[in-house]
Amino acid sequence: MELGLSNRVAVVTGGGSGIGQATADMLLAEGCRVAVWDLNVSEPSKASQISVRCDVTNRTTLEDALRETELQLGSVDIVVHAAAIGSGYFGFPFTRVPPEAWQRVLEVNVMGMVNIAHLFAPRMLERKQGCFAFLASVAGQMGSQTDPPYSASKAANINFAQCLAKDLAPSGIRVNTVCPGMVKTPLNESVWKAWVEQQPVGDQRTYEQWASEKIGSVIPLKRWQTADDVAAMLVFLCSDRCREVTGQTINVDGGCVMHW
Ligand SMILES: NC(=O)c1ccc[n+]([C@@H]2O[C@H](COP(=O)([O-])OP(=O)(O)OC[C@H]3O[C@@H](n4cnc5c(N)ncnc54)[C@H](O)[C@@H]3O)[C@@H](O)[C@H]2O)c1
Repeated sequence: MELGLSNRVAVVTGGGSGIGQATADMLLAEGCRVAVWDLNVSEPSKASQISVRCDVTNRTTLEDALRETELQLGSVDIVVHAAAIGSGYFGFPFTRVPPEAWQRVLEVNVMGMVNIAHLFAPRMLERKQGCFAFLASVAGQMGSQTDPPYSASKAANINFAQCLAKDLAPSGIRVNTVCPGMVKTPLNESVWKAWVEQQPVGDQRTYEQWASEKIGSVIPLKRWQTADDVAAMLVFLCSDRCREVTGQTINVDGGCVMHW
């Protein structure tokens, strides 16, 4: 299927790892020019890619990143926002997570999204074109007890994306959210780490054992989702093939959450 993404300019936050990295690679393969924005960046592998170090909680670094991106690649058509963190705590029950530990998660996951929206929306409105795809999580739809601040932040991502979609639709700008289930990435592994540290020695499991139990009990398709599975949905959503799709929350989760 021709996606018509050739020569579009895309920014992928959190593109230095996991799902963001897979999405940046897939957008490049579709002919986009891609800026990877991350706290940790490596040398770009293609001429049509740039890497910009920035922190989504720091608006000055974001403004610098935008200036650099526009200078090198031109006006931005597509924004995929994948940068996020977990609390590093095992949050069951929630009293295990001190209130102070919520602060950084909300700062990165909620305010990071707000900062990205404020940075790009005015420019997209001016050009009357553009498209956002935000990463949230199934955890944001079901009060997952594993990491309450993370779950709450992901619910906020879904909700704010809907507000944005309504605001920006009259100017033809689309906003959608993708919710992965279980994808093997550093963020996912950090959830296991927080869990395993709390277990008595006899109850501890390896990352693979922990994941396979979780997948067996909550994912109907009974397998991991890959970063490419999620990237494919994000890239499709950002293409003109989805020109009538906005304000949607789409799960790439092996059936973990089923809407009716
Ligand atoms: N992996 C999963 O199972 C899973 C499940 C559901 C949702 N998600 C969501 O998918 C998205 C991507 O997660 P992932 O699993 O690929 O994680 P990851 O840890 O592999 O990648 C996240 C990237 O974000 C960057 N980042 C973190 N804080 C930042 C900041 N302040 N400024 C700039 N960059 C920052 C990190 O450096 C990292 O490169 C996240 O929004 C996450 O909530 C992941």
